[in-house]
Amino acid sequence: MQRGQRVLVHGAAGAVCEALLALGRLAGLEPWGTAQGAHAALIRQLGATPIDYQREDFTRVLPGGFDVVFDGIGEEGYRRSFTALKRGGLLCAYGYSAGVQAQRGMLTMLMWIARLYLWRWLPGGKRARFYSINVMRARHPAWFREDLERLFGLLATRAIQPRVAERISFDEVAEAHRRLEAGGLEGKLVLCPDLPSRRDRMPPQREPGPASQTDT
Ligand SMILES: NC(=O)c1ccc[n+]([C@@H]2O[C@H](COP(=O)([O-])OP(=O)(O)OC[C@H]3O[C@@H](n4cnc5c(N)ncnc54)[C@H](OP(=O)(O)O)[C@@H]3O)[C@@H](O)[C@H]2O)c1
Repeated sequence: MQRGQRVLVHGAAGAVCEALLALGRLAGLEPWGTAQGAHAALIRQLGATPIDYQREDFTRVLPGGFDVVFDGIGEEGYRRSFTALKRGGLLCAYGYSAGVQAQRGMLTMLMWIARLYLWRWLPGGKRARFYSINVMRARHPAWFREDLERLFGLLATRAIQPRVAERISFDEVAEAHRRLEAGGLEGKLVLCPDLPSRRDRMPPQREPGPASQTDT
């Protein structure tokens, strides 16, 4: 992406988008973010222009369209995100929360992704891709390592300051997935290998004893 380009991120109050907005700001982009109206102040704080997706139509907010749209929600199989692009713009899809929430089958989501690659043949020169950090790491481990080193560098100088919802131990990973799925977390859950398990941190529970005379 080039400095000054207009970028739209969906679910801008979420954890991934917070990272996208922070990095977009460092890259000199002009960020916009869709979120519920209640999150408008947070989106502004993150340096983006909020769009309340329950009241505004993001495909019409910017006449001419966005240079890039990042969509981790997949509402309507990414169709409206593709519409929101300017000629020659790029849609980067990276999730399908809307499909998961609607309990759509995995085959449906795979079809949404496959269709992204067919849209390049439509007039207008727009492009669409699906990004997966796991696929990227498997295909290009050196790129992944380089990115991670740069991110840790930015973290060390506090150029990026991610919100941390909670630091948890490794044995809480299943619970962490349940909490991520439920949504509504304020920032990221950070797995810390050195942290003792929650069970070891809690005071021991008393064993229930035999019922007393006063119990009914
Ligand atoms: N491809 C990859 O490499 C990769 C890596 C990590 C995560 N992901 C995916 O990225 C997506 C976001 O992850 P996250 O950790 O940022 O999630 P998150 O923290 O739960 O945030 C998601 C945000 O999306 C909004 N949202 C949820 N459902 C919506 C819907 N139906 N319509 C519009 N907005 C909706 C919510 O904002 P409001 O409350 O404002 O509506 C929420 O703040 C997930 O699909 C996840 O699986 C992909």
